[in-house]
Amino acid sequence: MAPDVSVIGLGRIGLPLALSFADRGLRVLGVDKDPERLAAVRDGQMPFYEPGAQDALARVRAADTIAVTDRVAHAAQADCIVITLGTPSFSHVEIDIRDIRSALDDLLPHLRPGHTIALRSTIAPGTTEFVAGYLAKHRGFVIGEDVFVAHAPERIAAGRFFEEIGTLPCIVGGVGEASGERVGALFDVFGAPIVQTTPVQAELAKIWTNILRYATFALPNLLMMDCEQHGANVFSVIDLINRDYPRGGIAMPGLTAGTCLRKDFAFSEERSAAPGMLLAVSRVNESVPLFLVEGLKRRMGSLNGRKVAVLGLAFKGNTDDERDSLAHKLIRLLERELADVTVHDPRVATPTPPLEETVAGADAVVVAANHSEFCTDATLRRIGALAGGDALIVDPWNCFGAAQVFAYVSEHSALANGRAFIA
Ligand SMILES: NC(=O)c1ccc[n+]([C@@H]2O[C@H](COP(=O)([O-])OP(=O)(O)OC[C@H]3O[C@@H](n4cnc5c(N)ncnc54)[C@H](O)[C@@H]3O)[C@@H](O)[C@H]2O)c1
Repeated sequence: MAPDVSVIGLGRIGLPLALSFADRGLRVLGVDKDPERLAAVRDGQMPFYEPGAQDALARVRAADTIAVTDRVAHAAQADCIVITLGTPSFSHVEIDIRDIRSALDDLLPHLRPGHTIALRSTIAPGTTEFVAGYLAKHRGFVIGEDVFVAHAPERIAAGRFFEEIGTLPCIVGGVGEASGERVGALFDVFGAPIVQTTPVQAELAKIWTNILRYATFALPNLLMMDCEQHGANVFSVIDLINRDYPRGGIAMPGLTAGTCLRKDFAFSEERSAAPGMLLAVSRVNESVPLFLVEGLKRRMGSLNGRKVAVLGLAFKGNTDDERDSLAHKLIRLLERELADVTVHDPRVATPTPPLEETVAGADAVVVAANHSEFCTDATLRRIGALAGGDALIVDPWNCFGAAQVFAYVSEHSALANGRAFIA
């Protein structure tokens, strides 16, 4: 029997989405060019961590509502085709839509009137109209009458897919009213409100959702650097700003990156009316690793031959996703100072030594990702026991709750007296 919906690109977004459709009883065909990814789905083993995904995979395999293939052309067996391919940026402020074009080229000979294509990937303004124009040009379809094309951007946060797919308003920008209606009907299966708009407004809404977050975190990151310059404590200043103040609040500092935030602003920069503004936001976030390394050097002198333990390789806490993580930049910068760098992250696929081995005898410990297992009294005590009270802890996330970006283990212990740690 033909599938109801095909999902092209079984990545961090596509696979949970395919499972969510299949879990609602739709027959799903998942398409990916990566044979390991396909084997993992066939074997019922999630290839990455997303809460709830492993159970969903077991359910949809038992219900036999999901099949997978490496052939994009097979996606045309379903009336609805959802594209969840990666859309990285070239390094010079331009979206890279090669994967999307390649999938479209594979689909072209197989498309027929009645097909619906939903672009779920994050795309630069104008990309949905480009896709519609591409299909019209090469197959002569009237988009919105013969074949339907809409952008339905994915706005979930990694780690919250199954929670948010049924609650976040689903933005749909159709090329023509009928396109919006068809893609809206497909995503209506999740029960969240469907918000119809134009393709370019859907594209802008998604990109600017991420720009808002990227800029939101750049402010406390810049404040953290300003505070260091003035000998002030960023956590105290943030508390002064936010305490009982009714008009918004400033976020907390951290290593702000990841595969979406780091690239999506570039899609707006392509044609920006204020070139440079968001590049400056990016530069602030991108310079946090250097700020932390310079802070270490100010306190410890040369890092040559000093042991620096880095906790966390993931791009944020409680994920196994290492893509575009600033931890890698931090490690490279530490290595350029000739520090002896050790790394521990129990969540990512990259194998790392145990915590004890990583922090034993360390002169400094940097919390690069605030995984919940790091942010405990027990972890701090183990660091204290193995690295000693003179070890410098660098904790921009305030993972240990001492409200100090740079503080020695002994200061942490003093601050910890009588205070509960974040569990
Ligand atoms: N990861 C997130 O949290 C998140 C959130 C919202 C939106 N997005 C957006 O969703 C899109 C997908 O992101 P992702 O993180 O899932 O990417 P990903 O790299 O994890 O997934 C892309 C998948 O497509 C496959 N692929 C690439 N080219 C292919 C081809 N020609 N044919 C078949 N398969 C192919 C890859 O093997 C990979 O499995 C991006 O545009 C991203 O910006 C991601």
